[in-house]
Amino acid sequence: MNTALKKWVDEVAAITTPARIHWVDGSQEENDRLIKEMLDSGVLQNLNQEKFPHCYLHRSDPSDVARTEHLTFICSEKKEDAGPINNWMAPGEAREKVGSLFRGAMQGRTMYVIPYLMGPEGSPFSKVGVEITDSPYVVANMRIMTRMGDVATRALGDSSEFVKGLHSLGDLSPDRRFICHFPEAKEIWSIGSGYGGNALLGKKCFALRIASVQAQEEGWLAEHMLILGLESPQGEIHYVAAAFPSACGKTNLAMLVPPASQKGWKVWTVGDDIAWLRIGPDGRLWAINPEAGFFGVAPGTSSKTNPNAMATVKKNSIFTNVAVTDEGCPWWEGIDGEVPQHLTDWRGQSWTKGSPDKAAHPNSRFTAPAAQCPSISSKFNEPQGVPISALIFGGRRARTAPLVFEAFDWNHGVFVAASVASETTAAQSGAVGVVRRDPMAMLPFCGYNMADYFGHWLKMGSVVPKPPKIFHVNWFRQNAEGKFIWPGFGENMRVLRWILDRCQGKGGAVESPIGYLPGNGALDVSGLNLDASTISELLSVSRDDWRTETQGIGEFFGKFGDRLPKEMEAQRQGLIKRLG
Ligand code: GTP
Ligand code: SPV
Ligand code: MN
Repeated sequence: MNTALKKWVDEVAAITTPARIHWVDGSQEENDRLIKEMLDSGVLQNLNQEKFPHCYLHRSDPSDVARTEHLTFICSEKKEDAGPINNWMAPGEAREKVGSLFRGAMQGRTMYVIPYLMGPEGSPFSKVGVEITDSPYVVANMRIMTRMGDVATRALGDSSEFVKGLHSLGDLSPDRRFICHFPEAKEIWSIGSGYGGNALLGKKCFALRIASVQAQEEGWLAEHMLILGLESPQGEIHYVAAAFPSACGKTNLAMLVPPASQKGWKVWTVGDDIAWLRIGPDGRLWAINPEAGFFGVAPGTSSKTNPNAMATVKKNSIFTNVAVTDEGCPWWEGIDGEVPQHLTDWRGQSWTKGSPDKAAHPNSRFTAPAAQCPSISSKFNEPQGVPISALIFGGRRARTAPLVFEAFDWNHGVFVAASVASETTAAQSGAVGVVRRDPMAMLPFCGYNMADYFGHWLKMGSVVPKPPKIFHVNWFRQNAEGKFIWPGFGENMRVLRWILDRCQGKGGAVESPIGYLPGNGALDVSGLNLDASTISELLSVSRDDWRTETQGIGEFFGKFGDRLPKEMEAQRQGLIKRLG
């Protein structure tokens, strides 16, 4: 028995006073038992076991359906270390205020101790976390999302080096909901929410907020990025990592199925949400996916948009806040087939076709094992990860940002990534469709002062001997009628191919004030049925729009005061100059 772990568990039990303690081993028998208990208690409901074997539905509290960024805190010793973008709470105050909510919080409940491994077994880059929770739903999800139980206990051995994550459902009241991170202690306290990123502490809390701090200390990068392998018709595979804000297309790009026109090309999925990137012995950046499953957005997923995701969720999956058909199958807006006459909606209420309400919650999700994905990469469990040829950033922009452009060099790429803006989605509580700055898609996930994070990115450029090229994409440009003008999804393969061409010193490009755009004919748009004006609109850079953009970037950078690296403002001035 690991003494540091035992001591912490004893301390937590003394405070939270659970009825019993269950040390999670991750076995099938344990999972079967937990599922049965949850079916009996109503935490889970059976789905159609013939069509969706070992799949279950969970309906979360209607006030607890997305990450709550305004209740998420970085509790660093110094306020400046959390920076102007994060909510900050003094560690002493958090220990007091949030600690008092944990007192007796697990009374009458089982306390689960979940050892888990972020990253492949045997990888020098993997890290161990332990989550203590009173939610069996969290245990079942962590079993899919991480390497959980004995495998992690073995990896930990008698080391005291593990990230402590304490979680309780509390009373689920948003008034008593806090997601606190202690970057110095490498600890997480979360109470009052059972939902995704608030409660599955290995994901955003550890693998991004705490890991971003570790990455700065240790000289690597923890990013909100998918990882995919691009196989050419000749059988060569090149890997790219891409950061888009929440619900902006990472899962879809990671599982892309090239259309018939892109004959011989193939995409292999390494990860869909988080990448840990380190410098390899060959001087390149190498990436691992610390996760073992997908917690993916359900709405919009269909056999047309993402057939690999549809195949992945056919068994052993948990569906949260989706609707259910009368046959007991999961359903959401955008799924294949006719809209049924009757459904049970995400709240459990009867729903009839034509109702103005959505049947599935817009942030309803599936939790599914990565190993079940038909496009899963053979390198998924590779301890060293995969070498990265390109880093791609993007957002959801109705205008301004073109379909794709390439940064001039690393520092300019860091500026491009730091300037990413995107319309908000249902992945976080609050208004949807509001444009906000979301640097590196890390706005809600950076565990320290974002000015220092920019500095860390700049520094990585000088210490990585062979840095990847940096690109920006936007699948979401709209016309005056509010329609997307780029077909997206599988057709994004065409953009990936131009990116790969550029990485190999091929692919025509023209210089613009914001970066290199595909040159005439360099982007394969054959057979897309797009008229010339749409294509030029997709690749256009409006000087007026971008002048306005430089002001928005300037306002954002202004928040960081003196702490902003000089290079960032120099890059902005460079852009202003190029815009004339
Ligand atoms: P998180 O899991 O929240 O981090 O999100 P994600 O980045 O993995 O987002 P995901 O791939 O699940 O996409 C979210 C939404 O964007 C879905 O409704 C998709 O249908 C839609 N989407 C994804 N790719 C495209 C695209 O190329 N074009 C358009 N128009 N929509 C897309
Ligand atoms: C996101 O919101 O970016 C997600 C889902 O990937 S959650 O795990 O809830 O953060
Ligand atoms: Mn995400």
